Amino acid sequence: MSDLLHQPVMPDQVLRYLQPRPGGRYVDLTLGMGGHARRVLESSAPDGQLLGVDRDPAAVAQARQNLAAFGDRCQIVQGRFSDLSLHLERVGWSQVDGMLADLGVSSLQLDRADRGFSFQSAGPLDMRMDPEHDRSLAEHLAELSEPELTKTLRQLGEVVGARGIARRILSAFGEGRIEDTAQLAGFASERSRRSKIHPATRVFMALRMMVNRELDELSALLADLPAPLKVGGRVVFLSFHSLEDRLIKKRFQALAQGCVCPPKLPVCRCDHRPEMLMQPRRSQTATPAEIAANPRARSARLRVAERLAA
Ligand SMILES: C[S@@+](CC[C@H](N)C(=O)[O-])C[C@H]1O[C@@H](n2cnc3c(N)ncnc32)[C@H](O)[C@@H]1O
Repeated sequence: MSDLLHQPVMPDQVLRYLQPRPGGRYVDLTLGMGGHARRVLESSAPDGQLLGVDRDPAAVAQARQNLAAFGDRCQIVQGRFSDLSLHLERVGWSQVDGMLADLGVSSLQLDRADRGFSFQSAGPLDMRMDPEHDRSLAEHLAELSEPELTKTLRQLGEVVGARGIARRILSAFGEGRIEDTAQLAGFASERSRRSKIHPATRVFMALRMMVNRELDELSALLADLPAPLKVGGRVVFLSFHSLEDRLIKKRFQALAQGCVCPPKLPVCRCDHRPEMLMQPRRSQTATPAEIAANPRARSARLRVAERLAA
């Protein structure tokens, strides 16, 4: 296997906010090809440790190769980040100093036609990050009703003309006219959207998020916070979809909330304390120079929160 790399998004900001240091324990929840993980390991030398998690066996194999030089400072497991507590138990860690989640798909997944994520080339109707456990896109299309597919395209892709596109896709699929992703792209194009992106981009994104239950995964991870973090530990999220960023922001705001008494009460009776601090308060975006060098950074939103003492 060659030394494939995914150009990490906002690498300097991730390090600035994660603050890796020698002796620290870090989790990369979306290891990919290890681009961010490598920097965390370098910044926490000589003895910082990293646990890398990815649900994709191909990413895990590539990351093992790319990060081999770090030896036993880097442990890698295949699995979902919603099972984080199990992964931590497996390596004997209870809490960590920092976690990173760089959501979405990697270039390894997008660039390989045989994974079925791309509308640029013909590949199978697959789109699974974890081909060993999840159901393929073809299996979903065989079972989805038109209203269900319409809802998915609207909610996850904000697709214009979702109902018509859902009808076209399901009827062509039923007639055996969609057998690969290139054929799917022909039926998945938004007609009215004037945009620089390919007209099938949003439909493919919505289908990918459905196949991999990406919002459910994120919600489960957020619900776990702040338990996996030590006091002072930080979690950094990089998201590329407005729904994901909204979920992260809402959860961070809830965790940062102090008193929850009704405003009418003159004194606080709830004794509710904030558990995390949004640090910084607003989301961060990539610089114009980074966007020019790495177009994937265009839609990136970075959010950070730090665990507070009880
Ligand atoms: C954007 S890539 C990460 C790239 C990585 N930061 C790098 O620098 O190489 C996202 C990765 O997260 C993985 N992933 C997505 N959802 C996941 C989940 N729920 N659990 C575990 N891994 C997930 C994908 O398989 C993919 O490899």
